[in-house]
This record gives sequence, structure tokens and C-alpha cells, in this order.
Amino acid sequence: MTTAEQDPRLTEALAAIAAAGDADALEAQRIAALGKQGWVSAALKTLGGMSPEERQEQGPRIQATRAAISEAIEARKAALESAALEARLAAEVIDLTLPAPVSPKGSVHPVSQVMNELAEIFADMGFAVATGPEIEDDWHNFTALNMPESHPARAMHDTFYFPQQVDAQEVQPGSGQRRMLLRTHTSPVQIRSMVEHGAPLRIIAPGRVYRSDSDATHTPMFHQVEGLVIDRGIHLGHLKWTLETFLKAFFERDDIVLRLRPSYFPFTEPSVEVDVGWQDVGGRRVLGGDGDAPGHGWMELLGSGMVNRRVLEFAGLDPDQWQGFAFGVGVDRLAMLKYGMDDLRAFFDGDGRWLAHYGFSAFDQPTLSGGVGARQ
Ligand code: DAH
Repeated sequence: MTTAEQDPRLTEALAAIAAAGDADALEAQRIAALGKQGWVSAALKTLGGMSPEERQEQGPRIQATRAAISEAIEARKAALESAALEARLAAEVIDLTLPAPVSPKGSVHPVSQVMNELAEIFADMGFAVATGPEIEDDWHNFTALNMPESHPARAMHDTFYFPQQVDAQEVQPGSGQRRMLLRTHTSPVQIRSMVEHGAPLRIIAPGRVYRSDSDATHTPMFHQVEGLVIDRGIHLGHLKWTLETFLKAFFERDDIVLRLRPSYFPFTEPSVEVDVGWQDVGGRRVLGGDGDAPGHGWMELLGSGMVNRRVLEFAGLDPDQWQGFAFGVGVDRLAMLKYGMDDLRAFFDGDGRWLAHYGFSAFDQPTLSGGVGARQ
């Protein structure tokens, strides 16, 4: 087909397609020519009524018109798209000299870091990590730890009790029913571990505990770690060595000196309070050294003792065969002493600035070979 023979409608359509300014205008052109009611479609329909000779002549002509229009539409579409892209690229200027936005980076809370350090240190001495529920019953939290219902030590714990209803009645003292509470210490994990695994046993149990108490050094929720060893022939010497080894590794000092003072806990007999010697370094109390030396002192750090025979019996162990020692210490306290933080409340405020300052990198995994102290 030469230009001279070209259908004037085709010439007009091609011009309109070439002039279409956007996708909608182009689509209108497509519908006008190739749509169901379009003039090319109408021309195609006329082929049916033609004689074979006429059809042979007109057929290719109409098909060629259709192809020319389709091609023109495709070409215009591509041109419009690339023009739009050019325009966007020209408008969206990226200034590579601007500083990149800082993406917030999380950090490991000092309490979690210290718990990981404890797990690492005690794993090396053959201790497994045990856990127990924070919503505990009074049998595990008190009774089985040799604190019967009337025991005064129960009152000292400022316990959060649940308003438990049994058969529409309050649980009555002496009824044998268990009252639910938020555990006041990690010691109930001693009972749960002995009941579940029997003896021998070596566990630490870090976790959250709760007491109705609040000031600069007390928060209603805080953290403890419990330690328990049950075996044959266990005595106070094992307890002292274990605590000494633990504290030297934790504080990364060989000059940690312990002082064991007689004390009282219902679940240990005898019970000892463990003090650690400290010295004044530039106005700060730093652990280490003999607390009796001039300028030095003793700081009470943890409670411990030999597991009371009655506790072993409550947990189903024969106290004539098995002995053990236990200890309990505040994890928050350990973190404060090691990393020099002085307000316990800041631990649980959730202030991102505090965490950014005192938090640890997730890559700072405590290991005995690499050091349980964090890189600072
Ligand atoms: N459970 C005690 C408390 O919260 C701490 C404690 C003392 C734990 C002596 C022990 C222990 O295992 O032997 O005050």
C-alpha cells in the first residue's frame, strides 16, 4: 500500500495517535479504531458480504490498516512511558552528599547480659539453667521451702496474691488449697527442679520475682538467680568454693575475698550470709581485697546455706542420702556493681537513652575464653 492509496481515515488516525498526550487519550484512539464499534472493526465485518474477488483485494488492505494502527498505538505507548520515566528521573534528584538516616539499633539490656554471663560461668561448673513459673502457688513459694502458713517469714516477703476464688469462697488458711501468687523469689525453682529431676542436681535459675516494694533500690519486679547443688557428701566447703569461683569469674578479679556470716533462712540449715570485701577507688566502691584492711569494707551480697532436711523431704528426696547447698542473689544488684549503674529504677523505665548508654551489643556474647566481661 502506498501513501497515495492510504485511506484518509488511517492517515487521520495515525496523526491522532501520534498526538495523544497521555494513556487515556491513546486508549480513546484505540477504541475509536479497533474497539467493537470502531471503524476498522466495522470494515472487517463488511468482508463477509463481499464476493471472493473483492474480499481478496480488500482483506489484506483492511488487515494492514489494523496492523498499522496497532503498531502505532504500541509505539506511542512506549514513547509516553519513557517520557514519564524521564520526567520522574529529572524531578527526583537524590543528593548523595546528605548524611544517611541513622537506623535505630537495639541493644541487650544489662540484666539479660548479666544472666548470659551467669549461665556461661555456671555452665563451666556443670550447672544447667532451670526455669519456673512467675505465677506460682504458695506451696512451692513458701510451704515446701519450710515456711508453713503461720511462718513470720511469709509476712516479710510483701507478696502479691491473686484474689483466688475456689467454689465461690476465698481459699481458707489450713484448707490445703493452694493460693496463687507472683513468686517472691527464685527459690521455688529449687523445689520444682528436685521434684522433676531428683538427685544429683546442679542448677541455676535466673528470673523475674515480685514484691510489693518500691524506692531507689527496690522495684516491685526485680531479678534473682538461684543456685542449687544436690549430691552425696556435699558440705559448706563446696558452697564456699563455688561462690568464690563464680564471683572471681563474674567480677574478673582474683582478689575477691568472701566472708561467711551465720544467718537464718527457713530453707537452709545452717544459713550463711555472704559478704564481699570492697575498697574505695576514686570515691567508688570497687569489689576486691580484704574488707578488714584500712579503707576497705564488707558488702552483703547474697544469702545461702546447706539445704534444710525438711526441704529435701518436701521435694521427695531422702535427706540421709542427699545433701546440698543453695544460694540466691539479686541479678540487678550484680549488674549495678559490675557495670557501675546506681539507680535500679532506670533499669525498668524503658528509656532508650539509658539503654543506648548501658546496653550491650548483640555480638558481645560472654564466653569464658573471650571474657565474661563485656567489651566497653
Ligand atoms: N530466697 C531468698 C530471698 O529471696 C534468697 C536466698 C537465701 C536463696 C538463701 C537461697 C538461700 O537459695 O539458700 O531472700
